[in-house]
Amino acid sequence: MKNQDHLSSFARRLRPNAIRRLSHLINRPGMITFAGGVPSPETFPTEEIAEIAFRLVRERGAEVLQYGVTRGNRNLIEQICGYMSGRSMKVLPEEMILTSGSQQGLDLVSRVLIEPGDLVLVELPSYIGGICALHNAGAELVGVQMAEDGLEPSSIQSQIESLAAGGRRVKALYTIPNFQNPSGITLSAKKRAALLELAARYDIFILEDDPYGELYFDSEQPSPAPIKSLDEEGRVVYFGSFSKVLAPGLRTAWIVADPEIATRIEMAKEAADLCSSMLDQAIVSECYRQNMLQGRIAQLRAFYSVRCRAMLDALEAHAPAGAHWTRPTGGLFVWLEAQAGIAATELLSRAVEQEGVAFVPGRPFFVDERKEDNTLRLAFSKETPERIATGIERLCTLLKK
Ligand SMILES: Cc1ncc(COP(=O)(O)O)c(C=O)c1O
Repeated sequence: MKNQDHLSSFARRLRPNAIRRLSHLINRPGMITFAGGVPSPETFPTEEIAEIAFRLVRERGAEVLQYGVTRGNRNLIEQICGYMSGRSMKVLPEEMILTSGSQQGLDLVSRVLIEPGDLVLVELPSYIGGICALHNAGAELVGVQMAEDGLEPSSIQSQIESLAAGGRRVKALYTIPNFQNPSGITLSAKKRAALLELAARYDIFILEDDPYGELYFDSEQPSPAPIKSLDEEGRVVYFGSFSKVLAPGLRTAWIVADPEIATRIEMAKEAADLCSSMLDQAIVSECYRQNMLQGRIAQLRAFYSVRCRAMLDALEAHAPAGAHWTRPTGGLFVWLEAQAGIAATELLSRAVEQEGVAFVPGRPFFVDERKEDNTLRLAFSKETPERIATGIERLCTLLKK
């Protein structure tokens, strides 16, 4: 039997995640790694979570080891509504649904909103997991350039209009407005309002993916209020996550959407997994109740700010002429555009073999079929400041060769 011939059109569309395919190269032990876009395990509150988990299973085992409602733990939903009010967002419980990570949220929302062939605008570059979810649902992805302060509403408008002139209507825009993965870029407050206005004018959904918004470095300059906070029509679907502020292993995240859409997402989730882990949600809820989360976030900002500084200083000192890089004010990533002629995909094997340094080549983050391969995503989350300095110096030596 030729099983290939029997696959659904959905299965035929599926593509592997390009970063996961590089894992044999980038996950070698001992390597100085700028590759994984993951939080530093040093920051995990391991002891506190162990204690909370132990107590929860002992005292509330019948509840936390059981199936739960698809929407998610009601206490946690209410706590997140409170948490979001700190980001200028007034959220009602009926607008919220908890998911097993934002990645599940992106997959469910793509399936709920996207019809095969629908056009979706995506930042150049953008998060590979978001690109995969939209692609798998059949979206046709159209890349839009970013400036230093994020997407340009005027160029989006011309793109929408030139597509409309060819009879194509844009369905949605996918954006990561704060300390974007992979570029580290943040969308300015002014542009957020302009984007929402555009979305209203052309009747477009905005998918606002915001796992890094709390990780700003300067406490005097928090990240701008989410686009969702300005949305009165229910055209923004917002994705928040505890992965980067608590621990990704707890797989706890949330979506805020118009109640009608939230109900559809709930039905899609019912078919996907019935409910997310009740134990994980109860742990997060307990962390919140004990005020652990709020204190931790302040520490994380300081922790990542030092690492980012180490990377920017090392680039300043060693980067070759012709290289450019972003200067993020939060998050986990710096984006490096090397001098023309550099092939980052080839450079990766040499960096790993000769210098013991790993990074992620930038090309898979672009939805356009570009030829240039001179961009690199450098995550500063995983290594100590000293190792960051050493790794960047070595990488720059290789770039100069
Ligand atoms: C922009 C973006 N969205 C979503 C995710 C998925 O996060 P989660 O762990 O909540 O599934 C990530 C993870 O790195 C991300 O960078």
